[in-house]
Amino acid sequence: MKHIVSIGHFLNRGVIMGKIPTMQEARELLKEYNQDEFHLKHAEIVSGVMGYFARQYDPEHVEFWKLAGLLHDLDFEKYPEQHCIKEQEIMREHGYDEALIHAVASHGYNLTVDVKPEKFMEKVLYATDELTGLIGATALMHPAKSVRGLSPKSVKKKFKSKGFAAGCSRDVIRNGADMLGWTLDDLIARTLAAMQSLADELNL
Ligand SMILES: [Fe+2]
Repeated sequence: MKHIVSIGHFLNRGVIMGKIPTMQEARELLKEYNQDEFHLKHAEIVSGVMGYFARQYDPEHVEFWKLAGLLHDLDFEKYPEQHCIKEQEIMREHGYDEALIHAVASHGYNLTVDVKPEKFMEKVLYATDELTGLIGATALMHPAKSVRGLSPKSVKKKFKSKGFAAGCSRDVIRNGADMLGWTLDDLIARTLAAMQSLADELNL
């Protein structure tokens, strides 16, 4: 019994772990599977948004959050039919850590996989991913074509307009807010603030 406890202890402490890539390694992998500039930029935006929230909630693991954001759509360009499934395979082939694989796959919960967002960071990824697309599309309608001058109210208005950026699932955004225990308005305002903080770096 003592032996079993000690193995459990080992696992809990993360002694037996897969690889956590550097941001550079993750970008190289991303570019191996993605050429479309829109997809590469989306990956950087979600990574930046994850970093923004990590600095508030989990400052010791900012890079881990950013990696999950960067890699979350790794397989989407080449394997849209197997989105969130193929990327688990690719990351396992590279020996990546299961915690990172789970985080990435869980944003496809109830869409393509049944991997549920469990950790707070996974819920943030799930909730903000589609919303960054909606905010980006709203920004393009703005005269300055930037997130800088946008108000949460204008994003909310576009959220309610069903035909606008119809690819950004309102259900996923609402479910994400519920998972986090945030109101939809709060999620919109905070994700917009996250993107505004990245405006210079990513030209948003
Ligand atoms: Fe995404």
